[in-house]
Amino acid sequence: MVMVLAIAGVDNTQKPTPLSFPIPPGWPAPSYDFKKNPPTLQGFVLGRRLFYDERLSRDSTISCASCHQQFGAFATYEHSLSHGVGNTLTSRNAPALQNLAWQKEYMWDGGISHLDLQPLAPMTAVNEMGETVGNVLHKLRRDTGYQRMFKEAFGDTTINTQRMTKALSQFVLMLVSAQSKYDRVTRGKDSFLLPERLGYAIFQKKCSSCHKEPLFTDGSYRNIGLTLDNTLNDYGRMKITGSRQDSLKFKVPSLRNVAITHPYGHDGRFFSLLNVFDHYRKNMQLTLLTDTILQHRLPLSNFEIGQSTAFLNTLTDTAFLKNPFFAPPGYNITPMFIHRH
Ligand code: HEC
Ligand code: HEC
Repeated sequence: MVMVLAIAGVDNTQKPTPLSFPIPPGWPAPSYDFKKNPPTLQGFVLGRRLFYDERLSRDSTISCASCHQQFGAFATYEHSLSHGVGNTLTSRNAPALQNLAWQKEYMWDGGISHLDLQPLAPMTAVNEMGETVGNVLHKLRRDTGYQRMFKEAFGDTTINTQRMTKALSQFVLMLVSAQSKYDRVTRGKDSFLLPERLGYAIFQKKCSSCHKEPLFTDGSYRNIGLTLDNTLNDYGRMKITGSRQDSLKFKVPSLRNVAITHPYGHDGRFFSLLNVFDHYRKNMQLTLLTDTILQHRLPLSNFEIGQSTAFLNTLTDTAFLKNPFFAPPGYNITPMFIHRH
């Protein structure tokens, strides 16, 4: 900690160092209200410490990062569902954590309307971290390292729910992915290979009405003709709104870094991109509730699937996946990493 601050050139007796939030060129304004939780270097470093700390779980085995792994764009790598405390399993696929500042609602069904409230769900869920918020706070308060970090971030050693969740938000908000090949191409700094360019054209025609650029989601909930999994019994958005119309609607996921976030879908039912394409072109169960855009499925030849996949691969952002600033505490970091855009 001391070393990190020394590198950053921060004087411990001073106020926290403000961090500016990087809005990539051409992107819309973020939805998150930064005025209510202005990011600082010290708040970010504290949030990162919390994100990687197993003590947030009942038996000190699971951290946020156990399910949200950096090399998998902060999704759970190669798992349809993720493991929680005591051999439990989550009921949904862990989504990638990226560009969260532009989301208005969180979770596959949008059940959480503010990012600062999000961490309390996994902390207290029996099949995730299985802990009480009170116990977490108790553990943090006993730790002199945390006392110091809360003081550095918020001015005094008070450790409460609000500060803890704000610090976690400050960390996850900085997980901005906007340096993929696609981004370089749109900024005129690179060019697509032929298959990627053809795939992009197909994408714009068949996919981008829901997976809208530049975030690759329009933030809406849609029914894409999935069948109900009888063991999970997950009706998605309907659980939140209570409306039959919302049966089997799930949030349109961003496709950024999609090449490495497999398996896919809210319950990880698709093991590969090919499975997803096969769903759209032939396996959809059309009902009255299926999205109007998909009422005729999405015809795609094998050739077009190859090109579309080439395009989707250009959404992989290696700088994001390897950014040492987002890695576990202890890595040698400097704040310049987040000022690259
Ligand atoms: C046991 C695995 C697990 C752990 C531990 C976990 N998460 Fe998650 N996370 C998930 C799953 C699964 C979802 C999707 C849940 C849903 O849609 O119902 C999710 C969703 C989220 C989302 C919403 C993303 C979006 O795009 O809507 C955020 C933010 C998040 N987690 C942050 C955290 C933080 C912060 C922690 C630590 C306090 C944490 N998670 C711990 C599995 C986990
Ligand atoms: C009508 C809106 C809509 C259209 C059009 C659409 N999608 Fe989707 N897509 C969704 C929704 C909603 C999900 C989440 C489904 C779920 O799991 O419940 C999704 C999921 C995905 C996933 C899984 C991502 C993940 O992280 O789990 C991929 C990949 C994908 N879509 C690619 C495409 C491609 C490629 C096209 C065009 C050929 C396309 N989509 C067209 C709405 C749409």
